[in-house]
Amino acid sequence: MGKEKIIEILNKVRVEELTAIMQYLQHHYLAKGINSPTVAGLFKEQSITEMKHAYALAERITALGGVPTTKIDKINVPEKLEDMIRVNYEVEKTAIEDFKGYIKEVSEDITTTRMLEDILADEEDHADELRKLLEK
Ligand SMILES: [Fe+2]
Ligand SMILES: [Fe+2]
Repeated sequence: MGKEKIIEILNKVRVEELTAIMQYLQHHYLAKGINSPTVAGLFKEQSITEMKHAYALAERITALGGVPTTKIDKINVPEKLEDMIRVNYEVEKTAIEDFKGYIKEVSEDITTTRMLEDILADEEDHADELRKLLEK
């Protein structure tokens, strides 16, 4: 796989990360209800992790000679705290599936593969933290 294709994949991932940053932060700002201090704190923490991911992706993109995208997708901001957790859990599950596909696609580039594997481990932690909050 050529550099151009890898850059394209990394920018696709970066769009997901930038979108997640904004969604988590907005949920952090707007969370309300009895459990909101704890959950809003988790949203902030997760948002910061997504920033680190977006940063690592940008560094790899420029190392390969590309330009990091600043594009973001539409964010989803439900009213209720539980729905916020639910939509974020869905985002993380989708990210995990996407990462697994991308890791296979870029497998010839070891550095990129390692970076995506590290990010995938964080997304699995995120999904796990959110899933636990949804358990009754
Ligand atoms: Fe991420
Ligand atoms: Fe995440």
